[in-house]
Amino acid sequence: MDVTIFGSGYVGLVSGTCLAEVGNNVICVDVDQNKIDMLNNGQVPIYEPGLDKMIERNVKEGRLSFTTDIDIAVKHGLFQFIAVGTPPDEDGSADLQYVRAVAKSIGERMDEYRVIIDKSTVPVGTADKVRETVTQALKERNLSTEFDVVSNPEFLKEGDAIDDFMKPDRIVIGTDNPRTTELLRALYAPFNRNHDRLVAMDIRSAELTKYAANSLLATKITFMNELANLAERLGADIENVRLGIGSDPRIGYHFIYPGCGYGGSCFPKDVKALEKTAKQIGYDAKLLAAVENVNNKQKTILFDRISQYFDGNLKGKTIAIWGLSFKPNTDDMRDAPSRVLMESLWAAGAKVHAYDPEAMEETLRIYGQRDDLKLCEEPMDVFAGSDAMALLTEWRIFRSPDFNTIKNNLSTPVIFDGRNVYDPIQMEELGFEYYGMGRGKSCIK
Ligand SMILES: NC(=O)c1ccc[n+]([C@@H]2O[C@H](COP(=O)([O-])OP(=O)(O)OC[C@H]3O[C@@H](n4cnc5c(N)ncnc54)[C@H](O)[C@@H]3O)[C@@H](O)[C@H]2O)c1
Repeated sequence: MDVTIFGSGYVGLVSGTCLAEVGNNVICVDVDQNKIDMLNNGQVPIYEPGLDKMIERNVKEGRLSFTTDIDIAVKHGLFQFIAVGTPPDEDGSADLQYVRAVAKSIGERMDEYRVIIDKSTVPVGTADKVRETVTQALKERNLSTEFDVVSNPEFLKEGDAIDDFMKPDRIVIGTDNPRTTELLRALYAPFNRNHDRLVAMDIRSAELTKYAANSLLATKITFMNELANLAERLGADIENVRLGIGSDPRIGYHFIYPGCGYGGSCFPKDVKALEKTAKQIGYDAKLLAAVENVNNKQKTILFDRISQYFDGNLKGKTIAIWGLSFKPNTDDMRDAPSRVLMESLWAAGAKVHAYDPEAMEETLRIYGQRDDLKLCEEPMDVFAGSDAMALLTEWRIFRSPDFNTIKNNLSTPVIFDGRNVYDPIQMEELGFEYYGMGRGKSCIK
């Protein structure tokens, strides 16, 4: 089938490549000339495990191409996916300008039936807006060409995106026309062989489903963070509590890891956007507001702890940071806790030595070269001349380091573990002062 994907970011590139992988002819279009040039030169602008090889294969076999030419893009696909960004507006609601721009582009060019698919995470009612925009653009051309608008939210996780797309838990299709459900069923059939994962519903429910999923996951994490803060004050170890509750199948082990706050391109903005949607219809979503507030506070805990440890005087200190991306296996730093920590340290006059397996280029892009930031080529390089260590992302490579070298290099052997990767007892035996998240009395100075 012929497929066009607007937006060649994390979602657009992965979706387009996976759809090509199963035999479709896919054109990915983006307004960012630089991104498209990179892709046409065999480079992949984002880090996602396995994506580079899959892109290379599908380009070579002629099923996948990249362009900034909207005329070609609209002409190509029966399916026109919208996978552009929906960042937060100034007031926290989802900024739909990019979605609207794509809808307009399609309406200004389409001359035969098209299925327009919202894959971006968009507030309830967006499909209606897309439909209005396309209808208006067609009207201005004196056309009444048929089209359908579908909500097909994406649930992939960065770091596991290809697997998530190839073997989805569910494929949510929101439509008001059974014809489009069948067209999408055919498009998604290769991902649906094991058992039927397609959940068909009305458009508004599909739009809300994506926000419900992300808000619930953010709530689970936040609940555990709140409990971790309590455990710390009560002399309990949250890691024991986690094991104690996770074994209950009604609770489960997923998304109950305490830590220094969630970040990324989805949870923070989606919780905020849903809260804003609620406000717009006169509903005070107290739980969502609390999740957002608790998470924002959680992201400041590491800095508060480090500052307290050095008696509020961080001027001239150097903190060694492991992990900059918001989670492992991605280079994405949107809303990452590392940004809150680094910016607070800099504001307090401290320096940062940092290492991340994939996110250092992105760090450089965001902050540029600065005297108080040294990005180190090797993980162990961060410790020379540093006063303390902070771990912010649980990359596998950080799990079992050479602690003696770390201890010998730090001026004070102290570890602030924002992800509870290390064992407090072992750390004390090795001669470190260890501060985890919610790990009993040892965390309180
Ligand atoms: N990143 C994730 O893990 C994830 C998961 C599920 C859903 N989502 C949702 O998917 C959407 C896209 O997210 P992302 O992380 O891929 O964003 P992204 O910022 O990585 O990519 C968006 C791309 O859209 C391009 N773009 C903007 N306007 C355009 C236009 N008019 N025509 C063509 N391209 C245009 C941008 O240049 C950019 O390359 C968001 O709504 C997001 O919430 C993201």
